[in-house]
Amino acid sequence: MVCLITGSSRGLGKEIALAFGRRGHQVVVHYKERKEEAEDVASQIKESMAIKADAGNIEEVKSLVDRVVQRWGGIDILVNNAGITKEELLLKASEKDFDELINTNLKGPFNFIRAVAPLMVIQKSGHIINISSIAGVQGKAGLSAYSSSKAGIIGLTMSAAKEFSEHSIMVNAVLPGYMLTDMGIASNEKAKELALNDSLVKSFSDPNNVADFICYLSETKGITGQVFNLDSRIL
Ligand SMILES: NC(=O)c1ccc[n+]([C@@H]2O[C@H](COP(=O)([O-])OP(=O)(O)OC[C@H]3O[C@@H](n4cnc5c(N)ncnc54)[C@H](OP(=O)(O)O)[C@@H]3O)[C@@H](O)[C@H]2O)c1
Repeated sequence: MVCLITGSSRGLGKEIALAFGRRGHQVVVHYKERKEEAEDVASQIKESMAIKADAGNIEEVKSLVDRVVQRWGGIDILVNNAGITKEELLLKASEKDFDELINTNLKGPFNFIRAVAPLMVIQKSGHIINISSIAGVQGKAGLSAYSSSKAGIIGLTMSAAKEFSEHSIMVNAVLPGYMLTDMGIASNEKAKELALNDSLVKSFSDPNNVADFICYLSETKGITGQVFNLDSRIL
């Protein structure tokens, strides 16, 4: 299977790419800035390509997909993982930051789905897994743009699932829980404390567990339009 994992130079995406690699799949390690990290991840996978593209730029996304098709002929699994966060109170947030966040976190998955799904329609199969967040369901103070983007991904997932089910393309969303990746570490101490307090098992999420779940989900048949919460915080 050919797997495209967006934002897999580090953090959760890296663990997802390595998990698919360990299962013997061909993996596209996608990144925006961190070429060295992406190439290092790719070097740990037997059949892989590291490719740069800004998720919010449809031309760059299309040219990435063209390169993958030229080499491997199609894409079977798309994981929309790339994302950023910006912490600011709603009344202080800049329009520029809001636009950049929505462009990456919501338009990015929209762009990747539009570039990849036509291949899956021809193949009559495929899995699209979108990474959302508990913030998209509960909202978080200081994260209005991020929460909006992650709520949007859930709507995008359900709409795409309804449109693509007739082509046997499964589309699901995953809420990974609070992970100590670069993004998780960069959040303020209060956010980490709150996440731990709300966790019934008093621990952060392990990206390896999330990656294993995503690999498992990509092997299932007939599950689509669902949102999987891999968290011990109750919604
Ligand atoms: N960490 C958490 O606690 C948490 C909780 C819930 C949900 N999530 C979600 O999980 C996903 C992964 O998060 P993470 O914690 O692993 O983040 P991370 O460590 O900050 O990694 C972000 C990844 O996204 C890529 N990226 C950022 N902007 C991009 C753009 N415009 N175009 C293409 N790639 C871009 C980065 O590429 P470069 O390395 O090249 O910059 C990097 O590979 C995100 O969608 C995040 O919202 C995270």
